[in-house]
Amino acid sequence: MRELSLHISDILENSRVAGASLIEIKIVEDLKQDRLVITVADNGKGIEKEVLERVFDPFFTTRTCRKVGLGLPLFKAAARRCNGDVEITSTPGKGTTVHAVFQHSHIDRAPLGKLVSSLVIFIAGAPDIDLVYTHHVDEKGFTFDTRVLREELEGVPLNTPPVLNWISDYLRECLQEIGSCA
Ligand SMILES: Nc1ncnc2c1ncn2[C@@H]1O[C@H](COP(=O)(O)OP(=O)(O)O)[C@@H](O)[C@H]1O
Ligand SMILES: [Mg+2]
Repeated sequence: MRELSLHISDILENSRVAGASLIEIKIVEDLKQDRLVITVADNGKGIEKEVLERVFDPFFTTRTCRKVGLGLPLFKAAARRCNGDVEITSTPGKGTTVHAVFQHSHIDRAPLGKLVSSLVIFIAGAPDIDLVYTHHVDEKGFTFDTRVLREELEGVPLNTPPVLNWISDYLRECLQEIGSCA
């Protein structure tokens, strides 16, 4: 895939299907150590041991409607091409964490791409799931927490167009401020 945001969309979708009510996305651009770390942790139903052993096998899926499960294997392959890797840990009944590391400057590393759009589209389709999105570039960073926003909104759903527009503008500003070049 040409953009890491597409992989992130896929991981968020996995969390949604797993029934998560809270998803934490953490992106760390450590330019000094030349690392890009993406962590997505959810509180969904988790993954049984037998499935966990196979999640990086191409074509393995527990979905029954479509017989391909390429999301995680492709993400792992992308990271490995960039001197990194993807690991997944999970506790059934508790949740799942996907942890990806890339060499930030690697010539084959795809850009994060349209990350803000990916997040806004996800929120639009799953307004009841809370997201905590943290992004750091070296010592600069921000956290966007839909639980905090929800309190301000006093019952207005997150997928109301003006709210989605505000989230989009806000996140773009935050990314600009921390100087994300990914
Ligand atoms: N966050 C998650 N929570 C629970 N199960 C997951 C999660 N992420 C992946 N899985 C399991 O791993 C399988 C493979 O995921 P993936 O590679 O994205 O393919 P697909 O989503 O097409 O099935 C899923 O079918 C699901 O069983
Ligand atoms: Mg998937």
